Amino acid sequence: MENIKAYVQQHKDRFINELIELLKIPSVSADTAYCQDVIDTANAVKASLEKAGCDFVEICDTPGYPIVYGEKIIDKSLPTVLVYGHYDVQPPDPMELWTSPPFEPVIKKTEIHPEGAIFARGSCDDKGQMYMHVKALEYMVQSNTLPCNVKFMIEGEEEVGSKSLSWFVERNQEKLKNDVILISDTGMISNQQPSITTGLRGLSYVEVEVTGPNRDLHSGLYGGAVANPINVLAKMIASLHDDDNHITIPGFYDKVQELSLEERAEMAKAPFNLEDYKKALDLTDVYGEKGYVTNERNSIRPTLDVNGIWGGYTGEGAKTVIASKAFAKISMRLVPNQDWSAITELFTKHFIRIAPAGVIVKVKPHHGGQGYVTPIDSIGYKAANMAYTETFGVPAIPVRSGGSIPIVALFEKELKSKTILMGFGLDSDAIHSPNEHFGIFNYLKGIETIPLFYKYFVELSK
Ligand code: BES
Ligand code: MN
Ligand code: MN
Repeated sequence: MENIKAYVQQHKDRFINELIELLKIPSVSADTAYCQDVIDTANAVKASLEKAGCDFVEICDTPGYPIVYGEKIIDKSLPTVLVYGHYDVQPPDPMELWTSPPFEPVIKKTEIHPEGAIFARGSCDDKGQMYMHVKALEYMVQSNTLPCNVKFMIEGEEEVGSKSLSWFVERNQEKLKNDVILISDTGMISNQQPSITTGLRGLSYVEVEVTGPNRDLHSGLYGGAVANPINVLAKMIASLHDDDNHITIPGFYDKVQELSLEERAEMAKAPFNLEDYKKALDLTDVYGEKGYVTNERNSIRPTLDVNGIWGGYTGEGAKTVIASKAFAKISMRLVPNQDWSAITELFTKHFIRIAPAGVIVKVKPHHGGQGYVTPIDSIGYKAANMAYTETFGVPAIPVRSGGSIPIVALFEKELKSKTILMGFGLDSDAIHSPNEHFGIFNYLKGIETIPLFYKYFVELSK
């Protein structure tokens, strides 16, 4: 594998330019205005897999956006790696906060990325990370070093809940048969300290609607005499946490898997500097559940957050009005053993129960998924760690992430195989935020590290 470094050096400009072309297509799955762009992106991914050396690539139609499936089967008796990624991206809003347009990728230097980073929506999450796998395949095919079979499954609805992928996986167990699933859609600690994600949180996402009077009212004529849905919603939401920032929904914590003091001590060994953390976000202090430190609050503990809240008048100037309705989108991040549909039900019951007389409350579940934890003694984990150790010069640290890729738990249930989360993004890459970017170092390091995973996975499988 000595040659992978040289191959990356020789082809890096092309690798970067190809990714830039892919990033120009605005594949926003949440907004139907981008429908054709999402489909165009699927076709571009298909073409890239064919070019990289897959023997067979197809666009698989689903009830939603298509899934790109590709494979290169060299010998049925050898192990098979299934690569998963997503070609859809988050909406770019708020547009005015981007320093360059989200779908006109540019390379800019940052403090953390002195050799430059590609700024564009999807650069890190997940087009850039997904495309590392396409280029790693190209290298292995070109150099005749692909040591096993490989399958690709790249979806276009990850950012909106992977509904069609669940549908697809349930119907294609045989086609998707594999020995390990490999995903780059997470992050690592820093460019000096790689880490492997060993856990993802589950998710329950709901939308709530509070209705008061049947129309918007004059806030002087009616104010004080009727329930104001916005006031009520604010109060209801505020009551969902107590003074210690514990969630107040009855039964919410019943199934939560508590970590032992040993496990928590092990977690605390990962490098983390609270002052740097605060500084990076311009925070005067951190905030969260009593009894847990920041790195526990954002990984092994469940949370409840309002993602958006609206109602009434928000335009210029002042309008004196009591709105008829108020709304909020609420997400709950869950930890292993918390079942997302059970939690959705607990939330719904509780939220309706705490509504005061004078309003009507509706809860609409959006989507969700189970959390995931993976052991560090599997062949897949060991192979990933060996790969990182070789390219970064230091072993990777296992880290449980706070993010969610709900489909991972479903993979284990339906396909009976473990997922290895080899992420190369950084928390500072601003995924889902304005000015998302992906370091050139990270992109190229990923391409360099992935073929080593294949090599060690096959060696350890023997
Ligand atoms: N790639 C992210 C998840 C992620 C990022 C996990 C960084 C760990 C580290 C993924 O695209 C994502 O954004 N997932 C959503 C859930 C989905 C159901 C919308 C999330 O976590 O909010
Ligand atoms: Mn992602
Ligand atoms: Mn995402």
